[in-house]
Amino acid sequence: MIHTRVIVVKNPDEMGVKAADQFEALIQSKPACVIGLATGSTPVPLYKELISREKAGKIDFSRVRSANLDEYKGLAPDHPQSYRKFMQENLFDHISIKPENTIVPDGLAEDVEAMCAAYEEKIEAWGGVDLQLLGIGHDGHIGFNEPEDHFPTMTHEVKLTDMTIDANKRFFESIDDVPKYAISMGIGTIMAAKQIVMVVTGADKKDILHKTFWGPVTPEVPASILQFHPNVTLICDEAAYPL
Ligand code: GLP
Repeated sequence: MIHTRVIVVKNPDEMGVKAADQFEALIQSKPACVIGLATGSTPVPLYKELISREKAGKIDFSRVRSANLDEYKGLAPDHPQSYRKFMQENLFDHISIKPENTIVPDGLAEDVEAMCAAYEEKIEAWGGVDLQLLGIGHDGHIGFNEPEDHFPTMTHEVKLTDMTIDANKRFFESIDDVPKYAISMGIGTIMAAKQIVMVVTGADKKDILHKTFWGPVTPEVPASILQFHPNVTLICDEAAYPL
């Protein structure tokens, strides 16, 4: 771990507060900033904190733009388990961000390659991501960049691993309902963000967190590439902190 700043907190709620501090600082200094957002259970306390800070007048999302990391292939935006729906319910519907200023990859795109290219172009047209939020999967995936023999660069289609399908089945009626493919920002897209905040909570993430920041950088642990990013803040709770 060369550049990573580590903040160890007591529990997920405190993680939410510390992570919200990073967003608040950015939005205050750059009201029309571009934030990269993540789904999963881990960021939920952060989203709750951001909602209450806007209600308290501390943050203003009205000029903020946001790009999400990923989306399941084949799920419509209003599907209960789509990541678009997750973002609406957990954040966007409760803050002043403008709908046209939120983008999530289109899980229904017929021409996936063209959609992915357009997604990258949109982020570039916005001036790039100022702050990218990340969770982590048990196999070290970020977004849906699964362990591979190389680091995928741009937004692309991915085949989900059995481990990821298994981890995400809790949100679906049965494992057969979990999509087998997804669209994800690439590792290159993520690494291009000016600042990265990774949030990790729970003892079940301890091993992968150790591999990510204290092990070798390898595409077999996609998140390990973050060791090469100059501005990463890891916010983890005591249960997940591996040292
Ligand atoms: C999914 C998402 C990731 C997320 C991961 C962990 O696979 N694509 O972006 O980091 O789940 O989710 P959780 O925070 O629920 O453990």
